[in-house]
Amino acid sequence: MTQEAHVTQGPLTTEAGAPVADNQNSETAGVGGPVLVQDQLLLEKLAHFNRERIPERVVHARGAGAYGTFTVTADVTPYTRAAFLSEVGKQTETFLRFSTVAGNLGAADAVRDPRGFALKFYTEEGNYDLVGNNTPVFFIKDAIKFPDFIHTQKRDPYTGSQEADNVWDFWGLSPESTHQVTWLFGDRGIPASYRHMNGYGSHTYQWNNEAGEVFWVKYHFKTDQGIKNLTADEAGRLAGEDPDSHQRDLREAIERGEFPTWTVQVQIMPAADAAAYRFNPFDLTKVWPHADYPPIEIGKLELNRNPENIFAEVEQSIFSPAHFVPGIGPSPDKMLQGRLFAYGDAHRYRVGINADHLPVNRPHATEARTHSRDGYLYDGRHKGAKNYEPNSFGGPAQTDRPLWQPAAVTGATGEHAAVAHAEDDDFVQAGNLYRLMSEDEQARLVENLAGFIAKVSRDEIAERAIANFRAADADFGKRLEAAVQALRG
Ligand code: HEM
Repeated sequence: MTQEAHVTQGPLTTEAGAPVADNQNSETAGVGGPVLVQDQLLLEKLAHFNRERIPERVVHARGAGAYGTFTVTADVTPYTRAAFLSEVGKQTETFLRFSTVAGNLGAADAVRDPRGFALKFYTEEGNYDLVGNNTPVFFIKDAIKFPDFIHTQKRDPYTGSQEADNVWDFWGLSPESTHQVTWLFGDRGIPASYRHMNGYGSHTYQWNNEAGEVFWVKYHFKTDQGIKNLTADEAGRLAGEDPDSHQRDLREAIERGEFPTWTVQVQIMPAADAAAYRFNPFDLTKVWPHADYPPIEIGKLELNRNPENIFAEVEQSIFSPAHFVPGIGPSPDKMLQGRLFAYGDAHRYRVGINADHLPVNRPHATEARTHSRDGYLYDGRHKGAKNYEPNSFGGPAQTDRPLWQPAAVTGATGEHAAVAHAEDDDFVQAGNLYRLMSEDEQARLVENLAGFIAKVSRDEIAERAIANFRAADADFGKRLEAAVQALRG
């Protein structure tokens, strides 16, 4: 009997499996009298209903997911010993959850916001999660600023709405955001669907090969559907008419057998290059220009199966940047380092200590063999096996081989800012991005920014925000200032 037949055939029952006589009328003391506590079915239904929700993700609450396949198309064994990347043609099952960032669970999809691109590879050496976005960079470069940043994107404690004052106050006072904000208010800031956008690992990660050599890598997932975006007006209409537009588009495309694909590329930097590179290679507000490290194609990602149950497989799915496999590891990027803590902590709070036992989260191509036990909703999977190590009963033991190579460090502990390399400042890459845009795109960028900046209540907040774009490019600043003045009068 299939699982579905198991729960749909036969009489209706209580949670404990007893047959239900009447699911329409609760039990009362006499005709027209008060309801009885002995009506277990009523109590159980009301109590279960009250507990249907778990806390939504504090960011990226709104999302959609699909399973798929990753296929290796190039030999990357000179760079990494990761088993799932070991052979051309090798395939690995994946699960990808797309999301928006700021909106709550029920928010509309067609909004100006980065899109999450969280990808789980179910590899034979454990699950490898690459928890990225559709943007190659981010607003800030130190995890200590993340809660403050997100507070400005979410609802204001007094008004209960997102406030232009908070957003522009923070961005204006955090000039390192200028690059990502320029990106976000450009044409790619509102993708037409999850299928029509790229994904990026964004951070720099470590790859290490059999010989122990280290490479720094950045991942790119280039959509094979082509980039398609919405204008601010189109998005405004669509968000009202079809709030679930992205989620529906993804599900329906897969139902039609139109499986979306992405070409997977990496930029690879030999470890020895890092110290003298013109930009700090671990600064998340910067890209590595392709002329410096050309992207190399390494694989194909296809999404080909919808989840059967959104709550079980999408809402309860967990992704962590700390889920590495042998041959892949973190870089010293200060944002990434903060994320290595934040996600596991969020999962323990949001889904519970045994979240990684759920079907969508557990390894599919190997077994998890830990000595951790028990906790809420533990299913007894380890039966009577010993729960400590070392043990003399044939239990799982350590391998003595770390997943990644050690990183050299220097100096004293302290609250150090990210190191500035020769060409690093907060504006250089934002200016380059602006100058890369066509005249039409620049005009739309200025209009999108001005429309939002014009809403702030204080001139000094608007002026500070504009000054950052002026520092990126004088023409950009001049046009933006004029556009904001025209709107503010
Ligand atoms: C230090 C900075 C950051 C912190 C502390 C942070 C924290 C979090 C937390 C707590 C969640 C919710 C996790 C859950 O409940 O399952 C989350 C989700 C997410 N974050 Fe971050 N985040 C940071 C930066 C970033 C960056 C830079 C990216 C992309 C490059 C990113 C991409 C995502 C994605 C895609 C999700 C949704 C994962 C899913 O679909 O379940 N985050 N983040």
